[in-house]
Amino acid sequence: MDELARFRLDGRVAVVPGGGGGIGIRLTTALASVGARVAIVGRTAGRAAAAAAACRAAGSEALIVAADVTRAEDAERAVAETVARFGRLDIIVNAVGGGAGTALYPAESYPVSEWDRIVDLNLRSMLYATQAAARAMIAGGRGGRVLSISSVRGQLGINSGFAAYVAAKGALNALTRQLATEWAKYAITVNAIAPTFVATPQVEDLLADPVFKEGILRRIPLGRVGETDDLVGAVLFFCSDASAFVTGQVLTIDGGLTATQ
Ligand SMILES: NC(=O)c1ccc[n+]([C@@H]2O[C@H](COP(=O)([O-])OP(=O)(O)OC[C@H]3O[C@@H](n4cnc5c(N)ncnc54)[C@H](OP(=O)(O)O)[C@@H]3O)[C@@H](O)[C@H]2O)c1
Repeated sequence: MDELARFRLDGRVAVVPGGGGGIGIRLTTALASVGARVAIVGRTAGRAAAAAAACRAAGSEALIVAADVTRAEDAERAVAETVARFGRLDIIVNAVGGGAGTALYPAESYPVSEWDRIVDLNLRSMLYATQAAARAMIAGGRGGRVLSISSVRGQLGINSGFAAYVAAKGALNALTRQLATEWAKYAITVNAIAPTFVATPQVEDLLADPVFKEGILRRIPLGRVGETDDLVGAVLFFCSDASAFVTGQVLTIDGGLTATQ
């Protein structure tokens, strides 16, 4: 028996909100390279185009959907367009989020508008996209896989103005456990991965600052920040038959950071 066959996604369809982002593009390419057809969702088609090209280069089919998944009707349309094009939906990977470094304020005076922006980007986006995807999976009757990108900040505080991001990722972790419990009866598994800092174009400037980088590396036992490649094994596990009996879990991918806390 080919033990690796359980990680293949031939015939499966994935929708990836944020699939054109710094992390998303690596994950969509990985899904495509093991056989999944992939719909990439972003507010504009621009960033998704490179991810779609990478999926096609990996030998699969890709669809680009322009939609803002912090709006329920857009999330619904993104899933409907995916099903219309590919005929089914098996997987959603929620890769919309971030923005923490652009919204650092003392907790005692965190601006309400910034709170709403960060929570919408990291939590509401996951809720609406996942609800729409789950409705399609339930209708399809074949079960499904929900995987969200959380952060180590979902379980660790940090002394630098991250209140909204920490709250949103913590809630995403809790919602992951709740949805896993509710949707187990449909054979839909719901999990999350929680990376520490991952080197992407979005954080290049931060990492170029030697003091900032040294501060991060001191906290990570494996002595480096994450690369997008470091997420691929877990994503293929959680999106495939290999994880059929695993649900409601948040896997840290952090070089040992949380092990030290
Ligand atoms: N990078 C890190 O160090 C790191 C570490 C831990 C966790 N994470 C998490 O990983 C996830 C991805 O981060 P990233 O660094 O890849 O972010 P990113 O490069 O900013 O990518 C975000 C993607 O989401 C899309 N997007 C944003 N708002 C959207 C909306 N309302 N509707 C639809 N699409 C939207 C963006 O495309 P458009 O601009 O075209 O909409 C973009 O493709 C986030 O949840 C982040 O919190 C990142």
